[in-house]
Amino acid sequence: MDNRPVGVFDSGVGGLTVLREISRQLPHEKVIYFGDTARVPYGDRDPMQVVDFSRQIVRFLRTHDVKAVVIACNTATAPSLPYLRSENDIPVIGVIEPGARGAVAATKNGRIGVIATSGTIKSGQYPKHILEIDPSLEVFPLACPRFVPLIEAGRTHEPETAAIVHEYISQLTARDIDTLVLGCTHYPLLRDLIGAEAGDKVTLVDPARETAAELAATLDAMDGRASADVIPVHEYYVSGDPVFFRKFAEKVLPCAVPEAVKTDIEKY
Ligand code: DGL
Repeated sequence: MDNRPVGVFDSGVGGLTVLREISRQLPHEKVIYFGDTARVPYGDRDPMQVVDFSRQIVRFLRTHDVKAVVIACNTATAPSLPYLRSENDIPVIGVIEPGARGAVAATKNGRIGVIATSGTIKSGQYPKHILEIDPSLEVFPLACPRFVPLIEAGRTHEPETAAIVHEYISQLTARDIDTLVLGCTHYPLLRDLIGAEAGDKVTLVDPARETAAELAATLDAMDGRASADVIPVHEYYVSGDPVFFRKFAEKVLPCAVPEAVKTDIEKY
């Protein structure tokens, strides 16, 4: 038994979709969430700069004595996971391998689309992990750099956004995919529009589900779950505007969200 919190971070609000799933599968785990809302988006940044940002955030999370860290961001997972794992003596879990496993389990025709930021697509990590599991599959990766700024601006249901969703997703439905990985933790916030455009024949895979399952298995392996009488109150920290963050988080999460604490992450 271990009642210490789990650290979860993202470049912004996207990681809330992972936090939501962690709370569903592990309702007694307390989460310390960090959203790097002053430096979002990470998608077009140099990968080594993303590694440095991730290191700062993990140092910050560790001041809260977290027992494990979930990188709730594909763009940060791609370059940072090996560094963060070798530099920390607590488990560090990314979202890409769990997402790849989810996609392989879902496909029937062997044709998988992956949408993500430019950074994640350039890293080649999704095709690598999918093909490691089953080399007979075909993977169609597509960078969608216009999604994150729209989502961070809260423009998830506007006609302009639907038109951009059409522009991207139609390129993949034209390849006869039956599975589409939402390879950016912001994208489940566009799930309605993406699902409508992809159609009934395409299964959407949100890596959050497998990621939370991996966290559960990791905690079990170290006998590290919180006790069943804990009713956790998560804590939220951001580098940008805490008022905006809270309003956003309350739309994503099924629970009340306390004021986020503005944090000078450059200090860590
Ligand atoms: N939510 C992040 C991800 O999963 C990306 C957002 C960004 O570009 O900062 O990749």
